Amino acid sequence: MQRNAATRLLGASPGLFRWATCRYHPPVGAITIPKGALVVDMRSDTVTRPSVGMKKAMMEAILGDDVYREDPTIAEFEQKVAAYTGKEAALFVPSGTMGNLISILVHCGQRGSEVLLGDQAHIFLYEQAGIAQMGGVQAHIVANRPDGTFDIDEVISKIRYEDIHCPVTELICVENTHNVCGGKVVPVEWIDELGRVAKEFELPLHMDGARVLNAAVSCGHTAERILQSCDTASICLSKGLGTPIGSVIVGSDEFIRQAMRTRKALGGGMRQAGILAAAGIYALENMVSRLADDHAHAQMLATSILDVGSKNVWACPKDVHTNIVLVELKPSVISPDVFCRRLSLVSDEERRVVGEDVVIKVMPWSAQSVRFVTHYDVTREHVEAAIAKIKFVISEIEDS
Ligand SMILES: Cc1ncc(COP(=O)(O)O)c(C=O)c1O
Repeated sequence: MQRNAATRLLGASPGLFRWATCRYHPPVGAITIPKGALVVDMRSDTVTRPSVGMKKAMMEAILGDDVYREDPTIAEFEQKVAAYTGKEAALFVPSGTMGNLISILVHCGQRGSEVLLGDQAHIFLYEQAGIAQMGGVQAHIVANRPDGTFDIDEVISKIRYEDIHCPVTELICVENTHNVCGGKVVPVEWIDELGRVAKEFELPLHMDGARVLNAAVSCGHTAERILQSCDTASICLSKGLGTPIGSVIVGSDEFIRQAMRTRKALGGGMRQAGILAAAGIYALENMVSRLADDHAHAQMLATSILDVGSKNVWACPKDVHTNIVLVELKPSVISPDVFCRRLSLVSDEERRVVGEDVVIKVMPWSAQSVRFVTHYDVTREHVEAAIAKIKFVISEIEDS
């Protein structure tokens, strides 16, 4: 059966999405991306482009061959990140996916080992089972709660005992902020308790901290404090921090030494990579505290949508912890795909009411929700324009 883009993206069953069965249909004659329209791209915080200041820092970086460990900018960046996170060492890697993969391969040194992680974890859903493909590592899932945590007793019940029939449990993973759960900040006390249990069972704890700096800015704890009970973490630079490429993994000296070998085996050893690390240094110094603006914009968006009072399209501001807003839909009235398509169109009536052509790019997220992500390239004015358009579209849906 042909799968559409949304179901491919979500790894979901095509049956989840109702294409023609919803009550609302976009107006006939509406145009997609009219010339000169204001385009507000809220598909992901990965779409951000480096600022002028960041590009300047990249241009001026002193470079060397990092596979020979001769790139001074990489060395400076890795030392800074290690200090920032309170770990012994850090390693620059090309992507968050590779950061998680390397970390898991290092922790799970034997084929037939197993990692315990949430069933909504990015590692489980969206990284192509790379740990199975490359390392013969099996994912053993525990049910994620809506707040991104899971039941620690369930974790304990799933740790394998010594038996020739069983895989060997080697690692526990947690994600913070939790993407699929809507950018939720996972409570630090819960991470500490999970870390305590992991220690008791002599298992390392890894954090997929793609957006851990969003978590830090939102909850007020430092990244070091959040990661205190984690042995290792992978942190993305190319999401809210706006760098063009890169992630970084942190852990003990010995872990990073092994990670460097694994990175090379995966083809992730890069030469004059300091040009990218310079963007990372710039991001740590200039882009972290401004994440609060993205969080405020996400709140504005969720509050304005809730204030409309629609039973067909709504959001929950108290569930918005960081820069992700999950807008909920009544699928019998408007499906996620149709809502996204409508937001990318402009009608004559809308132009008259809203006063400008606004195109919003967003993604279907589940059978009844659409994800909006705020980021560096989405200004307050963009959010205000997007809100005006969304209000118009909701009124159209209410009238359908
Ligand atoms: C929670 C989480 N982990 C890992 C990744 C993977 O990062 P990358 O796209 O750099 O491979 C993402 C990307 O969206 C993510 O949201």
